Amino acid sequence: MRAVTGASFYAPVEEELAELERRLLDVGRAGHPVFRAAVAHLFQTRGKLLRPTLVFLAARFGTAADREVVLNLAESLELVHTASLVHDDVVDRAELRRNVETVNAKWNDDVALIVGDYLFAKAYALAAVLPKPEVIAIVAETVFALCDGELSEVTAARALPSEREYLDRIELKTASLYAACCQGAALLAEADAEHVAALGAFGTNLGLAFQITDDILDLTGDEEDFGKTLGRDLLEGMPTLPMIYAVAERDGSGGALASRILAPAKNEEEVRGLLAEIRDSSGPERARQRALAFHGAAVRALEQLPARAERDALRDVADFVVSRVR
Ligand code: FPP
Ligand code: MG
Repeated sequence: MRAVTGASFYAPVEEELAELERRLLDVGRAGHPVFRAAVAHLFQTRGKLLRPTLVFLAARFGTAADREVVLNLAESLELVHTASLVHDDVVDRAELRRNVETVNAKWNDDVALIVGDYLFAKAYALAAVLPKPEVIAIVAETVFALCDGELSEVTAARALPSEREYLDRIELKTASLYAACCQGAALLAEADAEHVAALGAFGTNLGLAFQITDDILDLTGDEEDFGKTLGRDLLEGMPTLPMIYAVAERDGSGGALASRILAPAKNEEEVRGLLAEIRDSSGPERARQRALAFHGAAVRALEQLPARAERDALRDVADFVVSRVR
């Protein structure tokens, strides 16, 4: 079952998505029994499959989209994404993702690290047989960007970042992968250079809008819908855009709030208090306006593309990203 059912943007690429879902479930086939079990566990509840949907839609803007080659790119990037989440859940000590136990919670950190490595190697094996070296390079550069983003997060000084620093970090850890899906697929399918660039800009802006929305949902979402424990960023002392804006609203007297946000170890009561305070501030709404501005930039990039059903579907993906609850 896909996490989002009935969304109109899946329609043009249903057949490729169904094939991709089959292949993902098969990833563990020749592996160690624990890897097989972890793959079955990870893909039992399917994610939103937004990234492969973008790959399949973007490939339609080229003249030479080879189905098998495009499927390999989609699978490779979805596995990079899954591997990075398995590792990220170790880093974040997270227990729940997509409403199911994380690999580190169900097994342990050692298993999660190796399962992530396995998935990542599988992703690279698929990328290695892509016919265009520049697309293989995009996959590798995306992994560098994810690692750079994650490293800046885990090594950040205990200080509130500026809006710019926050945006640079989410561009690396999230938007780079969205851009790779759109741009990589367009390149593989021999799309015109201006369409490749437009799809890259669409992916970057969509990714920024996605991550800001994710960071708002972590504070204001519904736990059941969101599928992740709320308030994780606060618990970890990880400042996000709505928090940065909530502190800024205090106009010079935000130091105390910033220190409480950044504190590494908090009890439940402190997290609850901070959640209520940030929800009552203008932080989430201001962050939402910022997400909508990136959504607007993504939609404008689509104007460079020829009008067709796939372009409408990309527009629907953008609308979904800023209106989603999960
Ligand atoms: C989720 O962020 C994490 C990422 C988007 C990137 C994580 C990247 C790595 C662990 C390095 C790359 C590793 C490999 C194997 C490719 P989040 O914690 O803000 O979001 P969440 O709430 O969904 O966990
Ligand atoms: Mg995380």
